[in-house]
Amino acid sequence: MQTGLQGRDLISTQDWTKSEIDTVIDVALDLKRRRALGEKHALLDDKVLAMLFFFSSTRTRASFEAGVAQLGGHAQFIESRTTQISHGDTPKEIGEILGRYNDGLAIRQVDWGVGNDYQRAVAEASRVPVLNMQCDLYHPFQVLADLLTIIEHKGDPRGLTINVSYAYASSYQKPLSVPQSLILLMTRFGANVRLTRPPEFKLMPDIVAQAENNARTAGGSFEVLEDFDAGFRDADVVYPKSWGCMLTTDDLEESARIGAQYSDWIADERRMALAKPDAIYMHCLPADRGVEVTDAVIDGPNSVVYDEAENRLHVQKAVMALTM
Ligand code: CP
Repeated sequence: MQTGLQGRDLISTQDWTKSEIDTVIDVALDLKRRRALGEKHALLDDKVLAMLFFFSSTRTRASFEAGVAQLGGHAQFIESRTTQISHGDTPKEIGEILGRYNDGLAIRQVDWGVGNDYQRAVAEASRVPVLNMQCDLYHPFQVLADLLTIIEHKGDPRGLTINVSYAYASSYQKPLSVPQSLILLMTRFGANVRLTRPPEFKLMPDIVAQAENNARTAGGSFEVLEDFDAGFRDADVVYPKSWGCMLTTDDLEESARIGAQYSDWIADERRMALAKPDAIYMHCLPADRGVEVTDAVIDGPNSVVYDEAENRLHVQKAVMALTM
């Protein structure tokens, strides 16, 4: 177990060693147990987290705010549109100034080609840890919660077949951050990771190369499939969710037309029957019900989506307690 994480940013899980991530999971399980027992764990007494949102959220906002309160601290919710950012506050100024008021800065900025650069620039100027609540490239707290959920339901991820798959959605061009973070993290834990997606829905080549390298180092495997049904076959974990085709086009009408070709990429009971009988169905939520996934699957016996959502709280508390 690696400790000594005080002051560290968490922008991508790739920036942390496997041993440091093991520490997060260990501490998250301890804090989960302590909360279940009603034991006080005010590890962030008098500390304050700034939560800066450029985009909407249900789970991330609610779980960070609840988590800080349970740790004895306070969270301030800041919507970018109510700040002076649009009138000139630069990332350097945000890092310098909010870093002087707070003990941690959490940011959600998912704009394509902007979000990660913004977070790195704030982190450069900040004297306190910057925690990535989702950017255009990564969603580290989501996938740490997913890792904890897999461990709780399936045990050690080593040797498990995990299918990270595109699914159709009509609502909006969702970021690449969840599938990219999933393939990066699950390959580090020795899983056999499948990335299943239509040819127009590629992930960033550099991220895919890192996932391949992770798999080689950890002794698992990484493969890319283009057949939705094949991704489900004999899988232990299925994670079909939508993302945008921003590497193919930046035209929203064209991306909607391309996506519509794959409207049959929906996680339904026939697809779930192709996976192992005890396979778990995962989704970070929100899901487009009836489009990405049927009610029978997301509300069915294999679905662990509420455990995933709960585990956001526990992993975030662990990282905040370790870094702030
Ligand atoms: N999964 C997730 O990040 O949910 P929110 O967008 O509601 O925060």
